[in-house]
Amino acid sequence: MSENMLSIKDKRTGKQYEVPIENGTISAMQLRAIKVDEDDFGIMSYDPGFKNTASTKSTVTYLNGEKGILQYRGYPIEEIAENASFLETAYLILFKKLPNQSELDDFVYQITHHTMLHENTKKFMEGFRYDAHPMGMLVSTLAALSTFYPDAKNINDPESRKLQMFRLLGKTPTIAAYGYRHLMGLPYVYPDNELSFTGNFLSMMFKMTESNYKVHPVLEKALDVLFILHADHEQNCSTTAMRVVGSSNADPFVAAASAASALYGPLHGGANEMVLRMLREIGSVSNIPNHIKRVKAGELRLMGFGHRVYKNYDPRARIIKNIAEQVFDVTGRNPLLDIAVELERIALEDEFFINKKLYPNVDFYSGIIYEAMKLPVDMFPVLFAIGRMAGWLAQWEEGLVDKEQAISRPRQVYLGEKKRAFVPIAQRS
Ligand code: CMC
Repeated sequence: MSENMLSIKDKRTGKQYEVPIENGTISAMQLRAIKVDEDDFGIMSYDPGFKNTASTKSTVTYLNGEKGILQYRGYPIEEIAENASFLETAYLILFKKLPNQSELDDFVYQITHHTMLHENTKKFMEGFRYDAHPMGMLVSTLAALSTFYPDAKNINDPESRKLQMFRLLGKTPTIAAYGYRHLMGLPYVYPDNELSFTGNFLSMMFKMTESNYKVHPVLEKALDVLFILHADHEQNCSTTAMRVVGSSNADPFVAAASAASALYGPLHGGANEMVLRMLREIGSVSNIPNHIKRVKAGELRLMGFGHRVYKNYDPRARIIKNIAEQVFDVTGRNPLLDIAVELERIALEDEFFINKKLYPNVDFYSGIIYEAMKLPVDMFPVLFAIGRMAGWLAQWEEGLVDKEQAISRPRQVYLGEKKRAFVPIAQRS
């Protein structure tokens, strides 16, 4: 008998089952054969929050939370962040290999030439309330793009899929910047094809009356690296939303809107905003011990700490910490950094955090950098979405072409009332 088998003995019936172990998993469907009698549905696994369930096989991102390793298509995140641009990274994530120069040039051309939004999209965005949250604007506008590109429904055509990927990658920064300009009451700035992906985004955000907006190279590089660090993170909440919605064969614009909605939550993409609010609330280094005390008493969570998968230092947090220093050389030091560094130092020495394996995650330092770059907190999850779009799209396509995948439709454990007779309204107490 193969060693890669799990023996399960059902003590209810005395029967023994041999379940194959493949890639460290057992197929949940194999459990269905374990029944007390023919009428029995069979055993299911119960896993709220999918804490121990692999929903897919994937070749996009390797993550080892215990060792703090993150790789895109096998390349360590540290090396990618050091050597590649965001678009080079997006190409790697989408097309499974590092591009050669002509492939990269062509890809950059394609993305650059899909940054414009239809004028009606602009008008659609003008309809939002003056103080609309830019994440709400992003979610709605991504969904609205579905109405402009009905060809996106051809999800089984690889060429059509590629075109929608170019559109989503190219247009997301434009929607993001328009959302910001709307919030600020400023005229929208059209994309500039002379600029890099990230340079163009900064121009659409901050260009005023000057004819040539000069992007600071350090800030451009820092933001580009932040996009790289957020580009994919395997089966997180928003990527799962993208895959789940994509599994119904919905077009990628509405699927991306769902992914962005998932990202909006404070436990996911909204966490860096919460970190910033927390650091402001702490206010000074001397207030840190009291804050830690409240966290330990269970009154609140230390935002930017802890991760479902990382039980070690998030490798992205380490890279971001270094970028922070470079950015502050240009922008001036953000006083919140001192609070963050001290908070991290104290937490990493504290038994409570050590025992629970709580380490800084990607969001702990990113918010401080964004703020130093004059990016308002409401824009933080939007910035996350610009980078993550690459991963959402790669994972969406991977799910679509995977013959083992099916429409996502989990089971439940029903614990409600057993069948009972309907009571007419007059007879109800
Ligand atoms: N501060 C204090 N205690 C914490 C924290 C925290 N930040 N995170 C987890 N814990 C405790 C939690 O109370 C629980 O304790 P106990 O076992 O005594 O009940 C234990 O650690 C395990 O927590 P959990 O909620 O079961 O773990 P999870 O894997 O479900 O949650 C998390 C992961 C990221 C939602 C959580 O760590 C958290 O809320 N962190 C703060 C929010 C945050 O920084 N989110 C950004 C995540 S990284 C970016 C992204 O992926 O979107």
